[in-house]
Amino acid sequence: MRKPEFLIYPQVTSTNDLAKKLAQEGAAHGGAVLAYAQTAGRGRRGRTFASPKGGIYLSVILRPRDPLPKLLHLTPVLAVAACDAIEEVAGIRPKCKWVNDLLLEGRKLAGILVEISGDALIAGIGVNVARSDLPEELRKIAVSLAEVGAACEKEPLARAIASHMARACETAVSAQKAWMDRYRADCATIGQMVSASGVSGIAKTVADNGALIIETETGDVSVQTGEVSCNPAADLI
Ligand code: BTN
Repeated sequence: MRKPEFLIYPQVTSTNDLAKKLAQEGAAHGGAVLAYAQTAGRGRRGRTFASPKGGIYLSVILRPRDPLPKLLHLTPVLAVAACDAIEEVAGIRPKCKWVNDLLLEGRKLAGILVEISGDALIAGIGVNVARSDLPEELRKIAVSLAEVGAACEKEPLARAIASHMARACETAVSAQKAWMDRYRADCATIGQMVSASGVSGIAKTVADNGALIIETETGDVSVQTGEVSCNPAADLI
């Protein structure tokens, strides 16, 4: 069995693309690619993900023992793992916005994108660490650790996120309820008016399978991520 490698680059196109290639070449569970800038960063739903200097762009190779249909809740589990790592290294705990985002003071600190690569999963995360050259329109909705007085070194943060994510993946199914209880405790979406996948109402809770339960005038509606790659229902208003 190969040892997990941790590769660091000043700039790449997309760390998810590099990690996919490494996974296809047999890279081990827990292996990771870190870059300090991306030229073709990818977000959910085929969007570009602005990736200027100041952030960390990290992709972790995961080789779950459990079959993918049992891992619909993996993205929330990885969000909790990322919060654990950020709290450990930067001393501040973000909140989660269902299902892929981490928030500080109501603004976006990080986004997660899980993609499939053969029998591996690639967990990509971008975190705003220092003040950066984000485009003007993003500055209003994004926040960095430095801006809230929680500046930290980038590489130790990335290493902590990679190791928390790899370990979380190992117990995502066996300790599903415990992970999802933690996600619900971290989740800022619960109790908010939301609109997701054409369903509007109050976000009541997040189910153990990762679905957002929305209370509407005609009853509760469950909005399921459906897959652990791009999440078509992740954008809440
Ligand atoms: C989102 O907010 O839509 C998810 C963003 C995920 C961005 C990360 S940065 C590291 C990895 N490489 C990419 O191209 N995307 C992910």
